[in-house]
Amino acid sequence: MSSENAGNEFTNFPAAEGALSDAHSDESDVRRAVAVHQRDFPYERGEEAHVTRREFCNFLALTSTALFAAAAGFAAKAALDARSTESFTPAKIEGAETLAPGSALNFRYPTADDTAILVRTADGHYYAYGQKCTHLTCPVYYERQRQRLECPCHEGGFDVRTGGVLYGPPPRPLDQIVLEVRGVEVWAVGRKAGEHEHSV
Ligand code: FES
Repeated sequence: MSSENAGNEFTNFPAAEGALSDAHSDESDVRRAVAVHQRDFPYERGEEAHVTRREFCNFLALTSTALFAAAAGFAAKAALDARSTESFTPAKIEGAETLAPGSALNFRYPTADDTAILVRTADGHYYAYGQKCTHLTCPVYYERQRQRLECPCHEGGFDVRTGGVLYGPPPRPLDQIVLEVRGVEVWAVGRKAGEHEHSV
């Protein structure tokens, strides 16, 4: 190799070898041409493959962890829902079909000892809750003007559409009575415990 070509082997390799034209350049020509570069700048393909496998394994581990966490979250939510919602024998709520919008009536569900309140809001929707305030079990009532459920004992207030605590000492929402509207009739079909909003 002439001094003119020294350090320029890669671009001029066919001429440097002098035996092959460009048309006959093949893998062996390339390998010979890059040999100097490989010696000066060693590059381990095995190492590259190892890194790639390690990265792929990390990716798999992260993906598996994320999937596991998501599945565990769904399972926990399903378990919580199953625990907080109780099904009871469905019972027709007498008088619900003639209840005027913006008014309420009392009924008992799921047993004769469990007082409950059914509210029909001004837009015609029905909502029902266990009547026991979640503070110290005083009975709540529907305050028509303010359109909310109120407890007279310590001035607790609840949202009529969610049962959530609006103000006062109650530590959690009212227990919800699950309803089904069947034609013009309204049926109670279950009870859902109010979830804790804040600790006492
Ligand atoms: S019992 Fe209802 S606010 Fe105390």
